[in-house]
Parts: sequence; C-alpha cells; structure tokens
Amino acid sequence: MRISVIGCGYLGAVHAVSMAKLGHEVVGVDVDPVKIAALSRGEAPFFEPGLPEILSEALATGRIRFTTEIADVAGSEVHFLAVGTPQGADGAADLRYVDAAVAALLPHVGAGQLVVGKSTVPVGTAARLADDLAAAEPDATLVWNPEFLREGFAVQDTISPDRIVYGVPDGVEGERAVEVLDDVYAAALAAGTPRLVVDRATAELVKVSANAFLATKISFINAMAEIAEVTGADVTALADAIGLDARIGRRFLNAGLGFGGGCLPKDIRAFRARSIELGLPHTLDFLEDVDAVNLRRRDRLVDVATELLGGDVQGRRVAVLGLAFKPDSDDVRDSPALDIAARLRAAGAVVVAYDPEAVHTSQRVHPELTYAESAAEALGGADVVLVLTEWQEFRDLEPAAVGALVAAKAIVDGRNCLDPQAWRQAGFTYRGMGR
Ligand code: UGA
Repeated sequence: MRISVIGCGYLGAVHAVSMAKLGHEVVGVDVDPVKIAALSRGEAPFFEPGLPEILSEALATGRIRFTTEIADVAGSEVHFLAVGTPQGADGAADLRYVDAAVAALLPHVGAGQLVVGKSTVPVGTAARLADDLAAAEPDATLVWNPEFLREGFAVQDTISPDRIVYGVPDGVEGERAVEVLDDVYAAALAAGTPRLVVDRATAELVKVSANAFLATKISFINAMAEIAEVTGADVTALADAIGLDARIGRRFLNAGLGFGGGCLPKDIRAFRARSIELGLPHTLDFLEDVDAVNLRRRDRLVDVATELLGGDVQGRRVAVLGLAFKPDSDDVRDSPALDIAARLRAAGAVVVAYDPEAVHTSQRVHPELTYAESAAEALGGADVVLVLTEWQEFRDLEPAAVGALVAAKAIVDGRNCLDPQAWRQAGFTYRGMGR
C-alpha cells in the first residue's frame, strides 16, 4: 500500500520505517529539514535499539523516502498523523502541531483515502478533525488508531503490538476504513494480534486511560515505598508478593524514582485538564495525587543523598549514574535522573554524571553539569554514588571495583536495581527507595 506518515519524531519515524519493513511504500514527512536529512542518510535522529538496522534495510529496498514537502503525500491511500502533542502552559495538551499538520495535509487528501491519527490527543479531537476533513474532502475518512509503543522496544511494539485499536465512524464508511486498515496491519493480524473496532472517542480514550492506569500503578507502589520507609518494610518484597496475585500483576510495580519521559507525565496532566473542560472537575483529581507522589520520589532521593553526605552537599562530589528517563533510551524529557542531577548541582554539589546514551541529550538541557565519558570517570573520588537509571551496565557494576574508585563508600539505588547485600558486604552504606 502507499502510505504517508506526517511527523517523523519518535512515533512517526519508527512507524514509517516499520510500515516499509512490512512491505508498504512509505513517504515520511516532517517540517524539520535536519531530521529529514538524517533519516534520508540512514541515521536515526534518536537512540532506539533496532531502528538503525531496519532504517538502512528499508532505504535499501527503495520503499521509503523522507521529505519536507507535504505535497509528496498525494496519492497515498493512508495518511498517518504522528506529530507530537506536548504539554501546554496550563497542563492541557498543546495541539498546535496536530492542527498545523492537518491544515497542511487537507489540500492533498483525495477521495477514498484515510487520514489516521496516531498522536495522543484529548478526547474529542478526532471528531473535530473529522469535520475539517469532511469540509475539504467529503469522500475521505478520519480514523483514530492509537499507538502503544514503548521507547526502547519501539520497533518490536510497532511490528508486533499487543493489540490494535481502530476508532472509526459508524456505517459503511467505518466498515471500509476497517478493511483498509486490515490491509495495512495484515502481518500483525495474521499473527493473531487482537484487533478492536470502536468509535473514535473510545479509541482516543484507550490511549490516555492506558497511560493514566500505568502511571497510577507506578505511583501506587511508590506510595507504598513511602510507607515502607517509615515502617522498615521492603517495598520490593511487597511488590513481589502482591504481584503474584494475577489480578494485580508484577509489571509496573517497580518502586524507585517514578515515571518520566515524553508520555506518562504529560498525558496524565492533559487528561485531567480535559476532564475539567468536559465539566467533570473532580473525576480525575486522583491523577493530581499520582503526579505528586511521583514528584516526591525525587525530593526523597535528594534528601537521602544529602543525609549520606552528612547534611550538606556544598562542594561534595556526587557521581550520577544514569540520566535517561529509562534504560535503552537517550530521552531525557521529564527525566527524574537529570532533574536530580541538576538540583544537586544547583545546591552546590560537584556533580559528575554519566549515561551510556543520554549525555548529548542532557548537555542540551543542562550544559552546566559536568559529564563523564565512562562510569569509572564519574565514580573517581566520589563522596556518594547515585544510580538513577537502571542501565544493565550499572546493574553489573562490581562493588569492590567501585569501592576502589570512590572517596567514600555510599550508594543510593534510585531504581532498586542493585543487590543490597553485595554492596553492604563490600563495605558500602547502601540506601534503596523504600527497601
Ligand atoms: C509509555 C507507555 O508504557 C507506552 O505503552 C505508551 O505507548 C507510551 O508511553 C506513549 O504514550 O507513547 P514510555 O514512555 O516509553 O511508554 O515508557 P514506560 O516504559 O512506560 O516507562 C515510563 C516511566 O515509568 C519510566 O521513567 C520508567 O522508569 C518508569 N517506571 C516504569 C517505573 O518507575 N516503574 C515501573 O515499574 C515501570
């Protein structure tokens, strides 16, 4: 099929390349010429395992090209909208990129074609865009098809998703849209991926409610970590025990520094803002608490680190291991790790930070921090070690080897990813989060 993907950021670039991998003819469009040039050269504009390989493969087949010319989408049977919806000033989603992309796209949409939204939007956006599309081309259809990819697993999640959701209009128009999308996703459907056909509002809500649920699950266990901290309980053992109840499940019950990234934090804020607009001022009040619990973990880590430094961070050397919001990513949007590094630096500590992939992205936001080229360099002479992102490289650190580099044997495990026993046996003061 001939497919266009508008927006070549995280979501769009991965989607475009994955569509080409599945055998479709793809044109990826973005307003950023630097991004388009990089993708055209076969360079992924961000770190994502597996993406460079399938990008080169797709370019070699000639099935994909990238352009800044929106007119090049003409003739595509399906146009995917994959632009960002960042957080606006008041917490609500900022739809300026969606609106601009749709305005640019509409003159090029032909009869019988589908416009398929993938961006995370406030419920009701699809209905509004459907009206705009109907005014421009009455024989085209607007569908919402949310994306559930996780950074670090983006390619796998796009090619083999755990479910596919189509939000379509009623009647024959909707049935036709389902047939077209079934062709787009033929490979995943043949592999048995569940496919749900719903109305557009439900499809928009599936996405935000899934992220709100995941954020709530993480903040729930982090609230238990707060309780564990004052009672001497171990939140990790608690999560293992409650997680064995199949109704609860162990996944997304890792207590630590909480959630960051370009999705969960902004999505819960936008969802709450939208519910207030919908005349439901209190329905999603709990998401405010979810946000507050999440942000308190960062305060807690700063307090523990300060305590280990004897109450004053001024002039003390702090080794920060991890800056990305999660491992296998160079993304530092709303990253708890980078936030903590910057806060300690602002309080007067000498912070030396290292991350296997996220130094260049961190440098852009916090040029004032000192960055190391290796974990060993960051650890040299440290008065306290903070593990803030659970990269495998940090899980594998040898306590004795670290002990030989640091000035003082004190470690804070912000992601509960280390073996406390092993570190204590090597003479370290070990502090986890709620354990
Ligand atoms: C999230 C969702 O998981 C995806 O399903 C969704 O498609 C995506 O947002 C999106 O909206 O595009 P992602 O932001 O890549 O994906 O990251 P997650 O794996 O959800 O992790 C989010 C944050 O939660 C990370 O900072 C992670 O460290 C933290 N987390 C995760 C915990 O603190 N504890 C856990 O148990 C799990």
